Amino acid sequence: MTKQLHDKVAIVTGASNGIGRAIAETFAAEGARTVLVARRAELLDEVAAGIETNGGTALPVPADLTQEEQIIALFDRAVKIYGRVDVLINNAGISTHKNTEDITLQYWLDALAINITAPFLCAREAIRVMKAQTPQGGRIINIGSVSQKTPRMDSLPYTVCKHGLQGMTHQLTMDGRKYGVVSSIIHPGATLSSFTTRRGRAKAGAGATPDDYVMAGEDVAKVAVLMAALPPEVNLYEGTILPNNMRSFIGRG
Ligand SMILES: NC(=O)c1ccc[n+]([C@@H]2O[C@H](COP(=O)([O-])OP(=O)(O)OC[C@H]3O[C@@H](n4cnc5c(N)ncnc54)[C@H](OP(=O)(O)O)[C@@H]3O)[C@@H](O)[C@H]2O)c1
Repeated sequence: MTKQLHDKVAIVTGASNGIGRAIAETFAAEGARTVLVARRAELLDEVAAGIETNGGTALPVPADLTQEEQIIALFDRAVKIYGRVDVLINNAGISTHKNTEDITLQYWLDALAINITAPFLCAREAIRVMKAQTPQGGRIINIGSVSQKTPRMDSLPYTVCKHGLQGMTHQLTMDGRKYGVVSSIIHPGATLSSFTTRRGRAKAGAGATPDDYVMAGEDVAKVAVLMAALPPEVNLYEGTILPNNMRSFIGRG
């Protein structure tokens, strides 16, 4: 049976850990030729080796996505090696935890640099490639957060960036139509990653209380595959995926 993403070229940012790693591995298992991006080269090599061992294709490209020239070089490399880009997964990001009155300008700018400016620059480079290639077009899948729906306490820069990504998804979808470029957004709830290991959760599944369930990155990756595998004329625009028991999100009482 043909794999769902057979031969598609997919750039996954933040592929060294967490959700991005799971998306890269799942995309490769579905036949995509993956480009793995993050700062930690040794982790990217490890992820790439695992993908190759399982018969997949992976190109590790270490880059700091807060640096415009590194983003431009990354897309140049992807096109040089694979000839095109079909999917961009804008996943790399950092969380923020600070009382609003204590947020310095630098803290704010650092969060925006990776959480909103990097997705914009990656999207811009992706559109340039997708517009020029034959067949034309592609998909840009942004990783938002349930914080775009219900913010966590004391995380203003993060919440603002995730709202910004929602707007970016809408705008990219509208502006990309003329080139067959389409955009979607996934809003995950609690998912195993450095976000959760910092809070003491090292395994996906149930926690100490019923509402402490943490999803696996692979759960989110399945939604990304579904979006990326749709025919080009169809878009699953937005998906919120969360643990069924994530009580603090779905309701009160
Ligand atoms: N986990 C959750 O519960 C959850 C819920 C909702 C949304 N999300 C979103 O999911 C996305 C992935 O986060 P995660 O939970 O998987 O966290 P994670 O385990 O910390 O992964 C973040 C990834 O981003 C990369 N990254 C960070 N700064 C970078 C930079 N300057 N340049 C290049 N890469 C950079 C990291 O790689 P390096 O450190 O190697 O650079 C890492 O691969 C984020 O956008 C996050 O907001 C997560």
